[in-house]
Amino acid sequence: MDKFSGKFAVVTGAGSGIGRALARRCAREGMDLAVVDLHEGRLNTLRAELESEGAVVLARALDVSDASAMADFAEQCRGQFGSPDLLFNNAGILRIGETWSHSAADWRKMLDINVMGVVNGLNAFLPSILEEGKPAHIVNTGSVGSLVAAPGMAQYTATKMAVRGITECLAHDLASNEARVDVSLLCPGPVLTSISDDLMGLEPGDNEVTPSEHMMAGQPDFITPDDCADCVFDAIRNRRFWIFTHPINNYLIAMTKSIVADENPVYREVEYDSKS
Ligand SMILES: NC(=O)c1ccc[n+]([C@@H]2O[C@H](COP(=O)([O-])OP(=O)(O)OC[C@H]3O[C@@H](n4cnc5c(N)ncnc54)[C@H](O)[C@@H]3O)[C@@H](O)[C@H]2O)c1
Repeated sequence: MDKFSGKFAVVTGAGSGIGRALARRCAREGMDLAVVDLHEGRLNTLRAELESEGAVVLARALDVSDASAMADFAEQCRGQFGSPDLLFNNAGILRIGETWSHSAADWRKMLDINVMGVVNGLNAFLPSILEEGKPAHIVNTGSVGSLVAAPGMAQYTATKMAVRGITECLAHDLASNEARVDVSLLCPGPVLTSISDDLMGLEPGDNEVTPSEHMMAGQPDFITPDDCADCVFDAIRNRRFWIFTHPINNYLIAMTKSIVADENPVYREVEYDSKS
């Protein structure tokens, strides 16, 4: 898709970071929007900003892990806008800790938001897109963690590898149905957002720049959410599945080296296999 003006986008996790940058970018391209977030205050600020740029905006504070709330929201969107031309299943959270340190309830919450949030977005919006038979593009937000495992990241990695699997299968399923729907997996490296606020025990509030963004600003690896949105729109225009925000080979090599250097048990097993 390379023309956006007058079309309609849905963005989850739009109250902050990457989702907010995507929503702003859609409005600048002349699109109308439906935006979702848990954080009502930020959503209201965003809605006012997007409306002042001329977009028609439907904003709803809801939890993407709530399938019926998502279905209800999709129904409301359909009544007002029809089915989406762009769907960004982006909301997600980050938890860190050793693999055995998370309770079953923590795992459930993580899976419900990061995996079922994406599934709920697809189930709520995709049937009407297919029914209308119009061209559309779906972007699911994974991570570099969709490709490589890192210490202390079991929960996050499990969810983001699942998002990769779902998104690749979705692309296959749509292709075999000859649907006019493109799919992308967004695999960001480090982006300057408030995703670490919870981990640092920081209260994000309604500010544009949160405490953790202040703390991370200036670190060389971090790009801005606007840079990330640029990568996404470039991929949509060029109908690319994989969206990398950083030079991915360098990143994977650096990650692999640090993991291998750690006397990593997975690596020992690979070495053993290669001799057999
Ligand atoms: N920032 C990074 O470095 C980075 C890297 C790779 C992937 N990602 C992914 O990008 C996506 C966006 O994260 P971000 O970095 O912009 O973080 P962020 O915290 O700035 O924004 C995420 C937004 O999602 C909302 N949200 C969280 N749980 C929700 C739920 N259950 N229902 C509805 N909204 C919910 C939050 O309120 C927040 O506004 C996430 O999926 C994240 O995993 C981020």
